[in-house]
Amino acid sequence: MLVVTLTLFALLRHSQSAKILGMFFIPAHSHQVMYQPIWRELSLRGHQVTVFTPNPLRNSSLTNLTEIDTSLTYDILRREYIGDKMAKDIYLIDSMLWLEKVSEEILEENFKIAKKTFTELESDFDLVLVETFHSLVYGLGCRFKVPIIGVHSLGLFLHTQDAVGNPTHPVLNPDIFFNVMEGFNMYSKIRSVVYNLWYRLVYYWYVIPKNDRLSKKYWGEDCPYIRDLEKNVSLILVNTNPILHLVRPQVPQVVEVGQMHIAPKNVLPRDIQDYLDASTQGVVYFNLGSNVRSASFKISARKIIIEALSELPYNVLWKWEDDHFPDKPKNVVTRKWLPQQDILGHRNVKVFITQGGLQSLEESITNCVPMVGMPVFADQPLNVYKMVQLGIGRSVDHMTMTKEELKEAIRDVAENKKYREKIYKLKDLFSDQPMSGVDKSVWWIEYVLRHGGAKHLRSAAVDMSWFEYYLLDVFLVLFFVAFVSVYLISVCVKLSFSTLRFKHKTKLN
Ligand SMILES: *[C@@H]1O[C@H](CO)[C@@H](O)[C@H](O)[C@H]1NC(C)=O
Ligand SMILES: *[C@@H]1O[C@H](CO)[C@@H](O)[C@H](O)[C@H]1NC(C)=O
Ligand SMILES: *[C@@H]1O[C@H](CO)[C@@H](O)[C@H](O)[C@H]1NC(C)=O
Repeated sequence: MLVVTLTLFALLRHSQSAKILGMFFIPAHSHQVMYQPIWRELSLRGHQVTVFTPNPLRNSSLTNLTEIDTSLTYDILRREYIGDKMAKDIYLIDSMLWLEKVSEEILEENFKIAKKTFTELESDFDLVLVETFHSLVYGLGCRFKVPIIGVHSLGLFLHTQDAVGNPTHPVLNPDIFFNVMEGFNMYSKIRSVVYNLWYRLVYYWYVIPKNDRLSKKYWGEDCPYIRDLEKNVSLILVNTNPILHLVRPQVPQVVEVGQMHIAPKNVLPRDIQDYLDASTQGVVYFNLGSNVRSASFKISARKIIIEALSELPYNVLWKWEDDHFPDKPKNVVTRKWLPQQDILGHRNVKVFITQGGLQSLEESITNCVPMVGMPVFADQPLNVYKMVQLGIGRSVDHMTMTKEELKEAIRDVAENKKYREKIYKLKDLFSDQPMSGVDKSVWWIEYVLRHGGAKHLRSAAVDMSWFEYYLLDVFLVLFFVAFVSVYLISVCVKLSFSTLRFKHKTKLN
């Protein structure tokens, strides 16, 4: 009887529906597609979910889901257009500060809506999910004193690694924005070490105090310091894996989930299906993702790309966002939007020309289409570097490439069987997982709910000063002991020598 009651109680407890708040603020399709399955799945499992998102699912059959549309923030990102400011040759700290500034503006917009909505909803939540792109978002931890789970669509930033106590070796695991296309030589090693130090100085002495003032402005003067709220995060779900990223040690508080947005096949729109079917000579699929707009590419680079594509013996399907396409070659068809996963699944697609976004890489591997990577900014250089290392594609530099180089790279990837063979093997490896990324995410979120947090997963490194973490205190003591020992020995030696000499003298006398 007792057992039955206990089991029933356990079942009840597990199936209990929780009230979950999510704030996923970056207005970029490629980020949001990673998060959408999480809030959909949580609502389907009976949780009451409220999310702030610029990309709502708008599916009326999801009755447990309330989506608060923040798509007005897309304008902020458009105004501060990314491509020019974050091109990979611009100094890294600029990228970080740019991201800080834009995210801050976007988050403030979210907070303004939130302050209104929260009073309307009169709601308290059991758990808060946040996109970890900006520390200000942890201000929600002051408003709701409940466990917070971070979700991140790329590899983690340096300060987020610090917040959970993950090691950040500048050569083994450089920052995700660090461009290692040429591999690590002495110059890039020094650059990475200096960047890691510089990042911390800027972040902890300038960015964090600024975000703390903002957090207090929205959630009250008595809020804890924003960095302490950030360090209080229960768990972080991160979209990395040892295949597409450099292998790294990870504290148990960080859980890798991936392939979140990989969907079952849909039918293609009729016109695209017909075009791909008819292109028996092969198709090059060209899409630089949702953040890099082809039309705003440098004119000279665009000219080279167009000329190279026009001389290929294949058809080209290009995601082009403008109405106007100057000098469009005969073998090129453009659309403003394309169902990428389903296109990559078509047998006639031979090559995918990509900026090297993580989600694109995942889709390409899942559909076994080798790539030509043309990285532009953020984590793209690092992703393309790994892609080339894996032998599933080539890279070209859009700043320096010539028409011949680009053509040669595309033809090589399209015709040389080695790329396809590698990617078939990689797909097997990639999809060999104990559970899907979405199931894993939901399992961990419910785990944190069941235990009211995950304090036991927290590394002691989080509360250590850098002085202790790098064992400088220990080295100081050791140095002191060594110094004193050497001194004492030298004194002893001197003493015994002079005693000897004294004895010698007295003997002589
Ligand atoms: C909504 O949640 C309830 C439990 O809170 C669950 O029984 C129901 O199936 C959920 N509905 C949908 C559409 O997911
Ligand atoms: C809406 O959600 C339900 C439940 O997950 C799903 O079966 C349906 O396909 C979705 N509809 C659309 C238009 O995505
Ligand atoms: C830290 O998180 C726990 C929940 O995991 C919460 O109860 C507590 O109030 C938080 N502490 C601070 C200082 O925010």
